[in-house]
Amino acid sequence: MNHKVADLKLADAGRLRIDWAESRMPVLMALREKGKKEQPLKGMRIAGCLHVTKETAVLVRTLIAAGAEVSWSGCNPLSTNDEVAAALAAEGTSIYAWHGLSTEEFYWCIDRTLDFKPTLTLDDGADLIFTVHNKHAELVDTIIGGTEETTTGVHRLRAMAADGKLKYPVYAVNDSETKWDFDNVYGTGQSSLDGVLRATSVLLAGKTIVVGGYGHCGRGVATRAAGMGAQVIATEVKPTMALKAVLDGHRVMPMDEAAKHGDVFITSTGMKDILVGRHFDVMKDGAIICNTGHYDCEINIDDLEARAKGKRHIRHSNEEYTLKDGRRVYLLAQGRLINLAAAEGHPSEVMDMSFANQYLALCELAKKGKSLDNTVFELPPELDQELAQLKLETMGLSIDKLTPEQIAYATDYASGT
Ligand SMILES: NC(=O)c1ccc[n+]([C@@H]2O[C@H](COP(=O)([O-])OP(=O)(O)OC[C@H]3O[C@@H](n4cnc5c(N)ncnc54)[C@H](O)[C@@H]3O)[C@@H](O)[C@H]2O)c1
Repeated sequence: MNHKVADLKLADAGRLRIDWAESRMPVLMALREKGKKEQPLKGMRIAGCLHVTKETAVLVRTLIAAGAEVSWSGCNPLSTNDEVAAALAAEGTSIYAWHGLSTEEFYWCIDRTLDFKPTLTLDDGADLIFTVHNKHAELVDTIIGGTEETTTGVHRLRAMAADGKLKYPVYAVNDSETKWDFDNVYGTGQSSLDGVLRATSVLLAGKTIVVGGYGHCGRGVATRAAGMGAQVIATEVKPTMALKAVLDGHRVMPMDEAAKHGDVFITSTGMKDILVGRHFDVMKDGAIICNTGHYDCEINIDDLEARAKGKRHIRHSNEEYTLKDGRRVYLLAQGRLINLAAAEGHPSEVMDMSFANQYLALCELAKKGKSLDNTVFELPPELDQELAQLKLETMGLSIDKLTPEQIAYATDYASGT
């Protein structure tokens, strides 16, 4: 058996979800049609470790259509959609993923995807590539390269490369403009609030929402929350980002102060300990806390547990902690990515471009073979323009083109007023 999923009987429901996503991902579907004919991934064995969502299934099908063999695991214990995993397993895909697996099971699943000795790896958070380096170093010789989907993974891989520890080349898919400037901003912005609403159903209008970190994801969340009538407080450590938040119309202050004002807290820094004990000590009764950064270390849950005299499961992805002085704090999705654990992750339209980048990065690695240095690469910026153009066309939109006179003007340093 080449799979382990929660329940194969969920496959029909999963297929419907994947059909829906395919109808919203025209760029990736166009690449699939081309890939079917040209077979750019023929002979490649791709191990993937990325949230098992309906959009990921569209990517998996596209990789297979382009000639690859694929083996897949989820990259977070709470982000697998069991229906989608069942649908992929039922159509013969090698997949090891179910919602709510333990840490031990999480790594067991990754190990299984390495059984077929991949030639390419695809990561979201770098857990697969770390497993290859730390536990299965014998596989490195046959691996041509890898790709990385998210900010935190790219940071870690760059640190590894700087230390001379990275043993094969990696494309930082996150760093393509058509990924970070859309997926992280608009995708995380909308889907994180979707997660908060599915787990709480609270009214956002009139609430004070504290966004921890005003980077790409934080800015997306803040903009969408403000659009729904919330007042936003941003916390930051980087002066330029804090300034952007102020000029975007939000309040900025240290978390020690913001902790007293927030009704809903959403961390999005990629850094540990953004919400810790002293913050829980001053929060309002009823405060809601969650995280949308990659790892579950942004909220210090041990500190919360240590202050609690009781805990109740209120509803899906929502735990009520009653603190010793009687105040209640609501932790969503166990501090894991709120948009994937409590909702469905980013909308398909956004993942269309992120996964088009993933697909093209893997094709590029397959084409180049073992010729690249063992470091972290970015995809060429021209590709962003091509993908964005394609996306605009699928939306029925056209834009202006520079005239020859304008092109000449752009490089003219002789004319003045
Ligand atoms: N939920 C999702 O689906 C999703 C999507 C994309 C990225 N991510 C993850 O979200 C996290 C953020 O990604 P990003 O692309 O926005 O990164 P980013 O680097 O653009 O933003 C992070 C921001 O957090 C700030 N920060 C760091 N430490 C802080 C601290 N102690 N207090 C306050 N602010 C602090 C940084 O200065 C930076 O501005 C990463 O872990 C990334 O992997 C999640």
